[in-house]
Amino acid sequence: MLLNVEDYRRAARKQLPRFVADYIDGAADDGLCLRRNLSDLAAITLTPRVLRDTSRVDTSIQVFGTRWTSPFGVAPTGLNGLVRPGGDALLAAAAAKAGVPFALSTASNMRLEEVRAAAAAGVQWMQLYVMHRGVAEHIVQRAKACGYQALVLTVDVPVSGNRELDVRNGFRLPFKPTPRLAWDLLTHPRWSLRMARSGAPSFANLTAHGNAADTASVQAALLTRAMDRTVVWDTLDWLRKSWPGPLLLKGLLHEDDARRALAQGVDGLIVSNHGGRQLDAAPSAISALPAVVAAVQGKIPIFMDSGVRRGSDVAKAIALGATAVFLGRPMLYGLAARGAAGAQAVLQALQDELVRAMVLMGASKISDLQSSLESTR
Ligand SMILES: Cc1cc2nc3c(=O)[nH]c(=O)nc-3n(C[C@H](O)[C@H](O)[C@H](O)COP(=O)(O)O)c2cc1C
Repeated sequence: MLLNVEDYRRAARKQLPRFVADYIDGAADDGLCLRRNLSDLAAITLTPRVLRDTSRVDTSIQVFGTRWTSPFGVAPTGLNGLVRPGGDALLAAAAAKAGVPFALSTASNMRLEEVRAAAAAGVQWMQLYVMHRGVAEHIVQRAKACGYQALVLTVDVPVSGNRELDVRNGFRLPFKPTPRLAWDLLTHPRWSLRMARSGAPSFANLTAHGNAADTASVQAALLTRAMDRTVVWDTLDWLRKSWPGPLLLKGLLHEDDARRALAQGVDGLIVSNHGGRQLDAAPSAISALPAVVAAVQGKIPIFMDSGVRRGSDVAKAIALGATAVFLGRPMLYGLAARGAAGAQAVLQALQDELVRAMVLMGASKISDLQSSLESTR
């Protein structure tokens, strides 16, 4: 029975070849940061409050002038097409149905215009990696032209984290079959058949750039996550010129970085350690959240991701000052297990769990959680 995120994780691992399941579940080095994300969230308690009117519960919030049904959204993840053909559009559609935003990765396998068209009623944010500034500018222009609401610059991947599971599994693109990979594919025929029908996923956003030599080198850079490491704080001025809308930084954990972002005129922050996939020694995102919230003093919304698996985790992050949270792996588990319906079911499970937690905490609206800070310990 698929009731919660962990159920979907197990179902996903059965459906997916080992190298794909490990690509999703994998983390940097020894997986310490990944585990801290989960254990630090688990260690926080929420104290019930009683005899308050919770006959109606409203989980909606307003972000950048738009209403979200729930205080969570779908985090950008690359290679969604490896989980399911058309995975980007399936996740975007699931998010739109649930009334929550979807963030599309630069490393998506569908063109950003296609994904926007597939879920035009929904709110979509565009995530940006800068491997090459000309290509980045082109992506930003295209995102602006087709109605992405916000731009999310990911700042915690100046170099790829050390993902040893991927190395051990021989997972690299373009795909080079080894006997072990061939066995992996043979033992997951449904996945293999789907991929055989749809063709191997490519970095579709990057194929549209004019210069062929640039395109090849940028695709190669994205494969190895070789970013432009000359991107620094002042670079934000350059991005600002091409993106007038809300600009967020994703992947910071230090309060001084948050202050600097504020001074630079950024519109929102996502406190994140990339789901434990970058610096293994990094603190959990939930433990870094309070200092960032304190530094920013409510001037811009602070989002958080990394480790959210239950509705009560959403409540904990909000109680510690987050406006909302994002979900990475949970969405991929749903997508792998049951396609768009699975992704939607994961969002629904989180929503049901959040509502139940709120009722038990005597909270009938999200701002009640925000003021329940004293009851997190
Ligand atoms: C398979 C996978 C691919 C990811 N790809 C990207 C990406 O392309 N861009 C990005 O900013 N973050 C990426 N992330 C990080 C997520 O946006 C998010 O920060 C992280 O998954 C949150 O942790 P969680 O998986 O515990 O929810 C990826 C995460 C996973 C699991």
